[in-house]
Amino acid sequence: MATLQRIRRHDALERTGHWIHLGNMILLFLSGLQIHFATLNIFGSMNNARLVHFVDMYVFFFIGVFHVYQFFATGKWLTSGPTPGNLRSTGPSIRYYLFLSDHKPQAGKYSGLQIVTYLLLFAISVVMAVIGFGLYWPVRLSWVVSAFGGLMPLRQVHYVLAWVFMVFTGVHLYLVLTQPLKYTRAMATGSYWRRAQDGTTHRFPDRRRRVSP
Ligand code: HEM
Ligand code: HEM
Repeated sequence: MATLQRIRRHDALERTGHWIHLGNMILLFLSGLQIHFATLNIFGSMNNARLVHFVDMYVFFFIGVFHVYQFFATGKWLTSGPTPGNLRSTGPSIRYYLFLSDHKPQAGKYSGLQIVTYLLLFAISVVMAVIGFGLYWPVRLSWVVSAFGGLMPLRQVHYVLAWVFMVFTGVHLYLVLTQPLKYTRAMATGSYWRRAQDGTTHRFPDRRRRVSP
């Protein structure tokens, strides 16, 4: 008879971190928008918007530091780190998502394209934090200000990168929601079920067993 395997995909740290990060990004983006468009009143006053931004920029920073720690301390780099093997599938994945090929490359936990994108997102987050702290401490971090040619260009780059985060979020949302919904649910519950690879074609199980990924 058919057997379902429970595939554990995201541990509690990963899930909690992801959803805190999402909430924090929404607050950072909205407060940033109000700082940019002073007439856009989202948080009641400019002081409130700046307070929200200043609190959440530290949350953003600590989520990033914690993520690096977690990546190495929990062995996440073994399943989600770049390797020549998983990076090879990046080109074929791009072709698949651009509808240029019907072949979706097999991947481990994440495809090469996901790994490259998440790494790029991390790099952009570091740049965003450096620029943001440059705006916050323009004297102490005067080298950041001069590297970008002054405070105004620094603000402009920070603003443009805010939209890069929004583009990432839009594409990310599109890609996760066009996959089977069980993968999105797994970001909330931690796991999903799949039919055991034992050649069976039955739809539902009469017994369930847990399998580590
Ligand atoms: C550690 C990360 C960050 C730091 C340290 C930081 C810091 C700052 C600071 C100091 C300002 C200027 C506030 C003022 O003039 O009153 C600012 C503005 C802004 N921030 Fe951030 N920020 C960070 C992350 C983000 C993120 C992730 C986003 C959006 C996704 C964002 C969007 C904005 C926007 C849109 C502005 C307005 C820029 C403008 O004036 O045109 N920030 N940020
Ligand atoms: C808008 C709502 C969002 C939804 C529904 C969502 C959903 C998901 C899902 C389902 C995954 C797992 C993908 C997989 O297992 O293949 C994931 C992973 C990820 N998402 Fe999101 N996401 C959202 C927003 C964001 C935002 C705003 C960011 C950052 C700017 C983000 C960054 C990431 C990262 C870095 C991963 C990899 C997770 C890890 O290994 O720690 N997501 N997301």
